[in-house]
Amino acid sequence: MKRVVSGIKPTGDLTLGNYIGAMKRWGQMSADPDREHFFFVPNLHALTVRPDPETLHRNSRSAVAWLIASGVDHDHSYIFMQSQVPAHAELMWILNNYVTMGELNRMTQFKDKSSKSAAEGQLVGLYDYPVLMAADILLYDADEVPTGEDQKQHVELTRDIATRFNNIHGETFKIPQPTVQEVGARIMNLQDPTRKMSKSDTDDSGNILLSDDEKTIEKKILKAVTDSGSVVSSGADKPALSNLLVIMSVLTDKPVTELEEKYATAGYGRFKQELAEVVVHGLKPLQHVHEQLMHEGNDKIDKALEHGWWRASELANAKLAQVKEVLGLL
Ligand code: TYM
Repeated sequence: MKRVVSGIKPTGDLTLGNYIGAMKRWGQMSADPDREHFFFVPNLHALTVRPDPETLHRNSRSAVAWLIASGVDHDHSYIFMQSQVPAHAELMWILNNYVTMGELNRMTQFKDKSSKSAAEGQLVGLYDYPVLMAADILLYDADEVPTGEDQKQHVELTRDIATRFNNIHGETFKIPQPTVQEVGARIMNLQDPTRKMSKSDTDDSGNILLSDDEKTIEKKILKAVTDSGSVVSSGADKPALSNLLVIMSVLTDKPVTELEEKYATAGYGRFKQELAEVVVHGLKPLQHVHEQLMHEGNDKIDKALEHGWWRASELANAKLAQVKEVLGLL
């Protein structure tokens, strides 16, 4: 049976970008009985921002709740917490010996995130992050890794690491395929459409958070920057409108071309007003489920994690044992 693996890092409030680029699709695919799906919360990855422990704990549970709210079927697929499966960190150490500093230096996400501090002040965890991600994927013999555009480079590095290991030690890891959807793989910041919408931003005015209430969503969308001209259309010269059209397209399941026809002469104001309604309407059911799950006394999150932990551990421990044997570590 084919396996699908992907994860969402609990470093802040999840955004509409996370939902459109990844979680919405995960919810839809998780019901497919012909594949085994693993959607996990990489809380070890979150340590690279040295979060306050209580916040990390809360964000990690909240991420599980958003996964369930996005429709991830936690009876037929598996949701688990990375730190509860120690094989991830152990395989990472092993894989560190099959990747070079040159390769890690080329990771655009590391370049973006590390650019703020001088080399001596940069955390090794941030640098090594893609190797932990490779371990996350290779432990499960994943066939597919569905992510947004920004993670594709990491999955490609995972393929290189796995291929190198297999060439040296014989067929050990399956080579995973990154899968990125055609529309919505890179949702941009509403205040600056040249930047990705990101949960690690300190200024939220251009990010719609999954937890934003109706008024906040409306305000952020009505204040979103637009492009020159007055026709609602997408294209390289209209990055702001293109982004808004993509958001509407994914949430309404209508192609961008159909929306362009519908709103061409509506004016930016009316288009944004209707987009705000679409987003509010699209997030409301998720927010309702999330709130219920986070309610004290509700044990659904723990039950889902236990179910996921059991299967994830079974596979991860078997793969790690195989790798250790290959390397003479037993
Ligand atoms: P993270 O937590 O940043 O993002 C989770 C998922 O959301 C997608 N995404 C977006 N998609 C479209 N537009 C955006 N603006 C946007 N922002 C985020 C991401 O591409 C991702 O699919 N390193 C990973 C977590 C991870 C992982 C893994 C993923 C750890 N181990 C193994 C897959 C397999 C990350 O930080 O994603």
